[in-house]
Amino acid sequence: MGTSQGRLAGRRALITGAARGIGAEIAASFRREGAELALLDIDIDRLLKTAAPLDASAFGVDLADVESTTDVVGRAIDGLGGIDILVNNAGILKMAPLLEIDPADWDFTFAVNVRAMLVTIQLAAKAMIPNGRGAIINMASMGGKVGGPNQAHYAASKAAVISLTQVAAKELGAYGITVNCICPGYVLTEMGAATRTEAMVQEWSAKSPLGRLAEPSDVANMAVFLASDEASYCTGQAMNVTGGMVMH
Ligand SMILES: NC(=O)c1ccc[n+]([C@@H]2O[C@H](COP(=O)([O-])OP(=O)(O)OC[C@H]3O[C@@H](n4cnc5c(N)ncnc54)[C@H](O)[C@@H]3O)[C@@H](O)[C@H]2O)c1
Repeated sequence: MGTSQGRLAGRRALITGAARGIGAEIAASFRREGAELALLDIDIDRLLKTAAPLDASAFGVDLADVESTTDVVGRAIDGLGGIDILVNNAGILKMAPLLEIDPADWDFTFAVNVRAMLVTIQLAAKAMIPNGRGAIINMASMGGKVGGPNQAHYAASKAAVISLTQVAAKELGAYGITVNCICPGYVLTEMGAATRTEAMVQEWSAKSPLGRLAEPSDVANMAVFLASDEASYCTGQAMNVTGGMVMH
């Protein structure tokens, strides 16, 4: 159950990729602000551990699988008794030089990072429309605006997330539904940890006027704002949480 106190009091929220990292931080922040949560992830064991202290329902799903996504998201929305907030946070990053990218990895990246968002947005928006309100938040990336070496499939998929966000905002605004995306800079989560060195962290930090990388809470704070009534006249935006590394 949600609580009666907080900026998201009583709101029903579905969050994908919530087992760890940014998604788990968004879940904890939403809970603190009074939301009732349904959390989805492919890693059900870890998700159950994240969900338990948040009093959240947990659903295992492979977002690359359209049929399973449709089934699980439908059950999650039914379990909440409707939906007020959708956070499409799950994403994958496969690093490879442009000349060596396997087209199968390209398709898989797009399936998880973008196609799954289409499916969840369709299901959530249909449930939000009768209420005349809702907030949809998609996780894009600074890479979707400016690209980055060795991540053509990732960056292109995140540019597609920005575009999907804009189209959804234009089509769903008439129903009182806002659709925005967040473009984080570098966040030290398990994503990319395998190839990250201390020298890279120093180099990236120096690119920010603030001289540091993002904490998951920096991104979660933006998600809370976009989900709250404070952002009710904000739609179709790609909000940077980059410490000033990207300013457009
Ligand atoms: N970490 C960064 O620097 C950074 C920067 C910009 C954008 N982002 C974006 O933020 C989001 C969260 O990233 P993170 O850093 O917390 O990464 P993470 O890898 O720690 O977490 C991603 C979560 O998504 C889940 N997931 C992956 N594939 C899935 C699938 N097929 N079905 C269901 N769940 C799946 C994972 O199990 C994991 O719990 C992603 O969309 C990512 O692209 C991250």
